Amino acid sequence: MIKNMVSMTDVSVVRSGRKILGPLTADISSGEHYALLGPNGAGKSTLMSLMAGDAHPTSGIADVLGHKFGKDDIRQLREGVSVINQHLAETLPAGSSALETVLTGKKNVLAHWWDQFGPNDEENALSALEMVGCRHLAARALGSCSQGERQRILIARSLLVRHELFLFDEPCVGLDFPAREKLLLTVDDLVRSGTVKASVYIAHYLEELPTSLTHAILLKDGRISVAGPVEDILTDENLSDLYEVPIRVVRNNGRWGAFVSR
Ligand SMILES: Nc1ncnc2c1ncn2[C@@H]1O[C@H](COP(=O)(O)OP(=O)(O)OP(=O)(O)O)[C@@H](O)[C@H]1O
Ligand SMILES: [Mg+2]
Repeated sequence: MIKNMVSMTDVSVVRSGRKILGPLTADISSGEHYALLGPNGAGKSTLMSLMAGDAHPTSGIADVLGHKFGKDDIRQLREGVSVINQHLAETLPAGSSALETVLTGKKNVLAHWWDQFGPNDEENALSALEMVGCRHLAARALGSCSQGERQRILIARSLLVRHELFLFDEPCVGLDFPAREKLLLTVDDLVRSGTVKASVYIAHYLEELPTSLTHAILLKDGRISVAGPVEDILTDENLSDLYEVPIRVVRNNGRWGAFVSR
C-alpha cells in the first residue's frame, strides 16, 4: 500500500502566460483511489494530463510511476497509465469493432493491425470485455454502441495491459441512469478485485462517484483547497466553500449525493 504512484512537488502549469495550475503538492500511493472535484476551469483535467504524461509542468517536480519529468523517457510512463475520457472515446475509429478497439489497448494506439496480435491477445481482449459486461458486443462497431457501452469498452481496452494507475475524466458524461450505475459498479469491482491499484476519478456530481474511493482532492482556481481521506473531505463545509453555495452532503450505502440547502 505504500508504493508511490504519483508524486508532485510545487508543480505549476502556465498556459498563454496565465498560471492555470498550482503551485500544488500531491502524492498518490498504491491502494489509494482519489476523487478529484472542483468547478469548471479549476484545473482538474490539466492535473490529470500531468499524471498521464500528456503534459509537462512549467515548474516543480513531477514523478509518476517512478519516472521523473524532464529526466526520464515519459513514453514509458504512458505505458503504465490508463486514461478514460471523452476525448479518447471520440478519437478511436467508430468503424472498429469493440474487440478491435480493446486490442488497440495493447500498445495504446488508436488503430489496430491484426499482424501485431496473437491468439492470446484476442482471448485476453474477450476476457476484458467480459469483465466489464460487454463480451456480447465484441463484433459490434464502436460507433453503433451506446455511450455507456463505449465507456465500458474503453475500460476493457485499458485492462488489456496491467496498468498501474487509472485516470477517469468524467466517465459518466452523457450516460443514462442504468448505464451510469453499471459503469460505477464496474469501477468498484475492478478496484475491489485489485485490478485497478490506484486511480483518480474526476466528476461534477457526487452521485457519479464510485463507492470504492478512499481519498479526495478539492481543486479551486488551480490550487488544492483541501485533500485527504474521502469521508473527511466530502463535507458540507468543504463543498460549500468549493462551490460558493450552501451544500448539504448525504451518504447512503457508500454512495454520495449533494444538494443546495436553503
Ligand atoms: N492550452 C491552454 N491555453 C490557455 N488556457 C488553457 C489551456 N488549457 C487549459 N486552459 C485553461 O486552464 C483552466 C483549467 O482547465 P482544465 O481543463 O484543467 O479545467 P477543468 O477543471 O478540467 O474544467 P472542466 O470541469 O470544465 O472540465 C481553464 O480556465 C482553461 O481555459
Ligand atoms: Mg476537465
